[in-house]
Amino acid sequence: MAARGIDEIAELVRGHRIVVCAGSGGVGKTTTAATIALWGALQGRNAIVLTIDPARRLADSLGVGPIGNTPVRVPDTVLETAGSDAGGSLAAMMLDQKGSWDELVERHVPNEDARRRILDNRFYEQLSQSFAGSQEYMAVEQLGELDASGRYDLIVVDTPPTQHALDFLEAPERLLDFLDRKIVKWFVRPSFSAGWSTLRTMNRTVGFLLHKIEDATGVTALADVTDFFSAMTGLFEDFEPRVQRVTQLLRDPSTAFLLVAGPDEQVLDQADYLVAQMSARGMPLKGVVMNRVHPHLAMGDGEASFESIRDLVAEQLARLRPASAAAPPARRVKTARRPADAASGAADAPLADRLAQNFVVYQARARGDEVRSEIFRQGLPRSVPLVLVPDLQSDIHDLAGLLQLHPFLFAGTSG
Ligand SMILES: Nc1ncnc2c1ncn2[C@@H]1O[C@H](COP(=O)(O)OP(=O)(O)OP(=O)(O)O)[C@@H](O)[C@H]1O
Ligand SMILES: [Mg+2]
Repeated sequence: MAARGIDEIAELVRGHRIVVCAGSGGVGKTTTAATIALWGALQGRNAIVLTIDPARRLADSLGVGPIGNTPVRVPDTVLETAGSDAGGSLAAMMLDQKGSWDELVERHVPNEDARRRILDNRFYEQLSQSFAGSQEYMAVEQLGELDASGRYDLIVVDTPPTQHALDFLEAPERLLDFLDRKIVKWFVRPSFSAGWSTLRTMNRTVGFLLHKIEDATGVTALADVTDFFSAMTGLFEDFEPRVQRVTQLLRDPSTAFLLVAGPDEQVLDQADYLVAQMSARGMPLKGVVMNRVHPHLAMGDGEASFESIRDLVAEQLARLRPASAAAPPARRVKTARRPADAASGAADAPLADRLAQNFVVYQARARGDEVRSEIFRQGLPRSVPLVLVPDLQSDIHDLAGLLQLHPFLFAGTSG
């Protein structure tokens, strides 16, 4: 496995306070974010991973549950067991979308009655659970909160599984755009109590805005929408500066975007697009983790022929099997005079063939991964390091699994 970029990824994590792991669905964002936070803690930092929907067992081992939104400290003994006495700490927090919206309301709407009106509102339910970009927005909002708390010197952010990680970058502005002052103003007007149809014919702009809201939320009950916006007036007053603050945070020099990708054609196409878009927007892409690469297994000098691979496999199989178990009894009687290894070799021939075929396919895949990763690397700006992380062949669902990734991400600097 190529070691290029390893020091740089360690440097990248060392040199930033916020690391955002972005990338398309299923590539390993959650795993990478958790393993980076763990490494930071082992290095003596007060680290937290803001994670989104981790696999159940990983969530359990980090100590975070499905309902939460509060940082949970991973026991220090875990860090000690991993051999660290650097005095760091690790916390995890799982983003609970609905909970985050509720919290936002709790914080910004002090009046108990108004609060209830919002929380029980059907439009609010839709907005907080299914509004496109709502989860991304909340991740950024929570990042702002964690940052403001001053408790962490390394915040690693996992991002939601979106088609394009750009959704994450743009979520704050998109939400702001949706909640455009003009719309809010229309809805909070006291005279605003007519039905949809009356309104539509009243004014084309209003018709357009209503349409936009229907599209985005699927809610067509005007009373809910109106009531929601009047109750939320206070919250929206403060919205714009807050969105600007978190947007600023994403562009701050202490924030690094780490692209997580995989060596598949389709994933790399998406990654290419993302890199281009990020650069066009001046977003700080600082490194790439090429995850789940099939490592190329060395077979000595040059390419081995299929026959030589099969012979090697057959030889290994013969070694693995005790001579007595190698062949069925009837055959053993017939071949009693032949040397034991020759008999087992004959019995194992079809298996050796299949295993050798398998190996050849695997090698071809590994070569493909290597070539595609290299081409992708060539397209990156010189200053952006790329690190290859192998496919570990089994799921990573606990802290021990996360530790296994450190040598690949951070070379010998772990712990
Ligand atoms: N290097 C690796 N080797 C083996 N398994 C891995 C590796 N990296 C990630 N995985 C496994 O791949 C699966 C997907 O990883 P993960 O959940 O981190 O991806 P994700 O990008 O967060 O997905 P989503 O977009 O759905 O949130 C998990 O089961 C994880 O254990
Ligand atoms: Mg994930």
